[in-house]
This record gives sequence, C-alpha cells and structure tokens, in this order.
Amino acid sequence: RVVYVNGRYLPYAQAGVHVEDRGLQFADAIYEVCEVRAGALVDRTRHMERLERSLAELGIRQPMSRAALSIVLSETVRRNRVKTGLVYLQITRGAAPRDFPFPRSGVSPTVICLARSLDGAVREARASAGIAVATMPDTRWARCDIKTVMLLPAVLAKEDAGKAGAQEAWFVDRDGFVTEGASSNAWIVDRDGTLITRALGHELLPGVTRRTLLDLLSREKIPLIERPFRVEEAIAAREAFVTSAFGLVMPVVRINGVAIGDGHPGDLTRRLRSNFHQVAE
Ligand code: PDD
Repeated sequence: RVVYVNGRYLPYAQAGVHVEDRGLQFADAIYEVCEVRAGALVDRTRHMERLERSLAELGIRQPMSRAALSIVLSETVRRNRVKTGLVYLQITRGAAPRDFPFPRSGVSPTVICLARSLDGAVREARASAGIAVATMPDTRWARCDIKTVMLLPAVLAKEDAGKAGAQEAWFVDRDGFVTEGASSNAWIVDRDGTLITRALGHELLPGVTRRTLLDLLSREKIPLIERPFRVEEAIAAREAFVTSAFGLVMPVVRINGVAIGDGHPGDLTRRLRSNFHQVAE
C-alpha cells in the first residue's frame, strides 16, 4: 500500500506528517471520502465542489488546482489497485509552532490521500440484513455543514451505538428532531410512501450521496419532503435508511431496539439502493 503525502507516494508504514501539524493539534483540517467503483471515483465533481467549499469556509488555501487534486485521488486509487473501496483525502492548514490564530504566510497545507479496498460482498450482506441505529443527543458544533476532521462527537456516538448493538448513531437536536447520522444522512419513508429527509442547513453535512439520491427521486418521480422528523416519527415509519459514500443507501431496520416496518429492509429502500449507480457519475 502507498499513501500520498505532500507530493510523494510513500509506503504505508513510513507515511507521516509533522508533529505540529494543525490537523493533529486543532483538527484544523477538512476531508472527503469518495466511493471507488470498478476502479473509478463516484461523483467526483460533487466531492471536489464540497471540498473546495469546506476549504473556503475555513479559510484554508486550496493547495493545488481541482484538476491536480483530482489526479492525486485517481493516482492513489490506481497505485493501490483499488477496484471496490474508498478514497480518503485530507487537507490540513499545515504545520507551524502551536498557536491558535492562523499561521502567517509561508505555511503550506498538508495534503494526505489514502485508498482502501472494501469487501463488496460484506457490504451487500450488511445491506440485505439492514442496520440498527441508536439515537443520542447532538453534541457537535454549529457548523456541521463543513466536512472537518473534528469528529470526536461522532467517534463517541459510534462507540456508544456499538455498545447498544447498533451500527450507526443518529444525532438528535434539542427539539427532538434527528439531524443526521454520525457518518451518514438520515431518511424515512412515511405511510404514503413519501421520503422525508432534513433540509440542508448548518446542522448537517450536505451529503454527496444524499444529493445524488435526490436526482434518482426526481427521475423516478418519488415524492420527497425535506423537513426535520422526530425519533418517534422514525420509529413509526414504514422504512428508514441512511446514505453515505461508505454505505451508499443502507437500510435501517431497528431504531433504539424497535423494529422499523416488518424489521426487514423496505422495498423502496432496496429499489433506491439497486438503482443508485444509474444516476451517480
Ligand atoms: N461520512 N453526515 C456526516 C456527518 C458524514 O460524516 C457523512 C459521510 C455523511 C454522508 O455524506 P456523503 O454522502 O457525502 O458520504 C453525512 C464519511 C463517509 C466518513 O466520515 O467516513
């Protein structure tokens, strides 16, 4: 395995960054996770657009052109011979003596890219069974629309979810509404077959998978309402699922230990999962 770090492809065991990298000290960094399918990046342009937006929101200088970054992604995938898997790109503000304000000029962003194969059969088995979700208070900051590596609340939530026998955590805001998953967007299907997912805002990540699924919904003329929903409404829903570059459209069959629908992945969810790549680019 090789890893891209600041212009070089290094053996996995030898790749590293400076001890005073701001990504380490302040989580002063952003990232992207992109699906790799048949050796190609899925929804590359949308991921690049979101990456550029995250950088701009944090005032991190874009280290190279979109075309150059895109080559780093493809080249990392190619050199690791990933056919089915994920590619991870992280950009930090750079390394500098520890001080809270942005370092003065002369500091270049750190760029890291890793690619990893994933067992497609394991993911399909997981999708056939569906996953369990546990809900917890949303303890994150007020700008969850920026894809930063400041992921400690998600780490703790996933750990707690795991202890409760669940594979994903759903964050719930102070008013009792689901914001999103710890690493996914949350969806339900109501009794009429209408899809419901929270509208975009500062409290959730604008998922690329979410965006592409919206295209599929309009193509298949499936009704959608973008609005917040409560945990009780989700538990009473006909179907539920989450979307992410990692799980794609992943059925949810239990929320807080209660079965959703008949406790199996819903028909609409399964259809959306199997048709997803028809609209993804
Ligand atoms: N996470 N919401 C959060 C908080 C996420 O971390 C993610 C993705 C999503 C879904 O976004 P997308 O469809 O663009 O993957 C929503 C990635 C997969 C991760 O952190 O590993």
